[in-house]
Amino acid sequence: MTRAASAGLVGLAAAALLGSAWLLAVPGPARAADAPGSAAVLFREADLALGDKLVREHKCSECHARKFGGDGAAIYRPQGRVNTPAALRGMVEQCNLELNLAFFPDEVTSIAAVLNRDHYRFK
Ligand code: HEC
Repeated sequence: MTRAASAGLVGLAAAALLGSAWLLAVPGPARAADAPGSAAVLFREADLALGDKLVREHKCSECHARKFGGDGAAIYRPQGRVNTPAALRGMVEQCNLELNLAFFPDEVTSIAAVLNRDHYRFK
C-alpha cells in the first residue's frame, strides 16, 4: 500500500468516526430544536437561576393570580397569542416596559426561559 493510499484510509476512518459522533450528538428529529427562533437557540444563554429569582422577586405570579385565580399559572397559555419562543420573550419584554421593571436584555431572556421551562415548553 502506498503512503498516500494509507493516509487516505486513515482520513476516511476519521471521517467515519466524526460522522458517527456527529450523528450521536445531533439525532435526527431533535435537530428541529436547533432551528433559528427555537427555544434551544433563543434561550441558549439564559441563566435559569437568575430567571427564577427575578420572577419571584417581582411577584409576577401574585398579580397574575389576582387576575386569573389559583397560582396565576393559568395566564401562561402556549395556545394563545404567545405561541412561539420569540413571542414569549416579547411578552416578557412588554411587561418589563409597562411595569417599568428595567430588566436588562439577558434578564428578559432568562425570565422567558424559566417561563418556557415551567409553562410553555416550546422546543
Ligand atoms: C400588575 C400586574 C402584573 C404583573 C406584576 C405582571 N403581569 Fe404579566 N400579565 C398581566 C396581565 C393582566 C396579563 C394578561 C394580558 C393579556 O392577556 O392581555 C399578563 C400576561 C403575561 C404574559 C402572557 C401570558 C400569555 O400566555 O398570554 C406573560 C408571559 C407575563 N405576563 C409575564 C410576566 C412576568 C414575567 C412578570 C414579572 C416580571 C409579570 N408578567 C408581571 C399582569 C401582570
